[in-house]
Amino acid sequence: MVVTEDLKGRDFLTMIEFTREEIETMLSVGIDLKRRFVTHEDHRHILPGRTLFMVFYNDSLRTRNSFEAGMTQLGGHAHFLEPGAIYTPALKGDEVAYSTERVSDVARVLSRMGDAISIRIYGGKCGWIYGKGHKIIRNFAHWSEKPVINMEDDIYHPCQGMADVMTIYEKCSHDFNKLQGKKFVMSWAYSAGQKPMAVPQTGVLAPSMFGMDVTLACPQEMDLHPDIIKKVEEHCDLFGGSFTIERDMKTAFEGADFVYPKSWGILDAHGIEGVRPAKPEIMPEIMNKYKNWKTTVELMDVTNKGRGYYMHCLPQDRAMEVDDEVADGKWSIIFDQAENRLHAQKGIMASIMH
Ligand code: CP
Repeated sequence: MVVTEDLKGRDFLTMIEFTREEIETMLSVGIDLKRRFVTHEDHRHILPGRTLFMVFYNDSLRTRNSFEAGMTQLGGHAHFLEPGAIYTPALKGDEVAYSTERVSDVARVLSRMGDAISIRIYGGKCGWIYGKGHKIIRNFAHWSEKPVINMEDDIYHPCQGMADVMTIYEKCSHDFNKLQGKKFVMSWAYSAGQKPMAVPQTGVLAPSMFGMDVTLACPQEMDLHPDIIKKVEEHCDLFGGSFTIERDMKTAFEGADFVYPKSWGILDAHGIEGVRPAKPEIMPEIMNKYKNWKTTVELMDVTNKGRGYYMHCLPQDRAMEVDDEVADGKWSIIFDQAENRLHAQKGIMASIMH
């Protein structure tokens, strides 16, 4: 395990900026904090009186409440900041008189008053320009004197990735080495809504850091950004897993240990910076061709011994993405994942804010 001194003060913007050893350290801290949470062991001495400023451009149930509860449990406090109620933080050149404030100023002000800043921004909140949300979060990190945490942008959702790895680890006998060689399927699923790319992209990156055999299943129009695929392939070389793309959901599910079927949007030119995701009005036309991409009992029956785990980050569109018999059935670990948002993020905060 790495010394946590190496993690102190670091930004948490993506998982791939950390070594596997560092990720395991933060998750191990989170797992220890989970034990203390379950046994009602007071751990408010870990971040006493510390403040996390949370800037949410987009809605949230899990992320907001897990960070807020997590900070309280660690002895600190989390402030909820909503652009529009504060002057909306904007990049240089994007300012609107007296309704925005430069990210550089917001970041320096908040980092003088507290101990970390976390931000969520994607989709319409950054003009649907792929990479813009991530750029805004990096700009916060550039100017902040305190750690910055990515609570989901338009490329990455690293906190979800950490909770997902923690959940898989728990199902692999609490042994990171046992993730090696397990089949993990990140699959597109139909929804009438337009959803971000951050979860599927983090969803192929994170397991590939642990030597899992990763399959991406999606219609060609829903391919992920090529830079993400390149990184996954690098991980396979480094950590010994494999990467496969399938165009058929059932073929992908065959023998899978973990399946993660969810909806995401379309990059109209595969995500070169400045390129927009496909326009919302053409999305239904494309997506409606694939309404049969839905997780059913029949599909779960072809997973490993018919007992593969069903994963989803939530929120999900029931009846469109998945049948209730699966989401509420014996395969489902979706509420373990949701709970682990709390414990994984406490591990991250305890490691970088101590
Ligand atoms: N999974 C996730 O990030 O959930 P919220 O959008 O509710 O935060």
